[in-house]
Amino acid sequence: MKKRKTLYRLLACVSIIFIFYALVKNYWIDPGATGFLSRKTGLKRELNLPVWLNVMYVHVAFACLAMASGLVNFSNRIFEKSRKFHRINGYIYIVSVLLVVLTSGYMAPYATNGKISSWGFNALNMLWLFITITALIQIKKKRIIRHRNWMIRSYAFCFTNMFIHLITSLFHQGLGLEYAASYTIGIYASIALLLVIPEIIIRTSRTELTIR
Ligand code: HEM
Repeated sequence: MKKRKTLYRLLACVSIIFIFYALVKNYWIDPGATGFLSRKTGLKRELNLPVWLNVMYVHVAFACLAMASGLVNFSNRIFEKSRKFHRINGYIYIVSVLLVVLTSGYMAPYATNGKISSWGFNALNMLWLFITITALIQIKKKRIIRHRNWMIRSYAFCFTNMFIHLITSLFHQGLGLEYAASYTIGIYASIALLLVIPEIIIRTSRTELTIR
């Protein structure tokens, strides 16, 4: 129980800091995404900047909303206080995921480093959609533990952008690899980590439940 509380607090800290960072950076410090876009070279399709930027604003807004609503729904205290709130907030999470996936689908063909990165984003989109819908189906069948586990898997994807940028920086600034290649490595390494980390969390919380 104590372990779970610590994990939730850690998750809350990381999520809140990242939401704040994403909002400030993308709507205030660099609303034109100049830093990010300057690294795009040799695009096969012409990027319509005003459209891309507006799609990116919607993308960031709903990504942050998904992150916040998901975090709130993992709180046992809030769940025990009002199941109705948990349900409504759960639908807010699902709609947010749908909108992030939709906007991501628009941006994917223009991804940094071309097709290979686009495929990674398309895979992310399909995986996230599948996992989130599975979580919903499980609760419709009243399988609470399975619903919780699929939601842990789904929520991990809210950290996609954070993981991609951390891994890209590690390869680009840390190991001196070219930015575009580092970015593609960032996408695929993130997919792997976003699938593995939730499994570790699910297994750990399962043993904790059986020990108690
Ligand atoms: C909290 C979660 C997320 C946040 C805050 C976020 C934010 C952003 C931001 C700010 C950009 C613009 C470029 C940059 O600075 O990275 C971006 C690009 C993009 N995001 Fe997200 N995102 C999130 C999750 C996701 C997820 C889950 C997916 C896919 C399922 C996704 C797909 C994309 C795509 C395809 C691009 C364009 C990449 C490119 O042009 O190279 N994002 N995102």
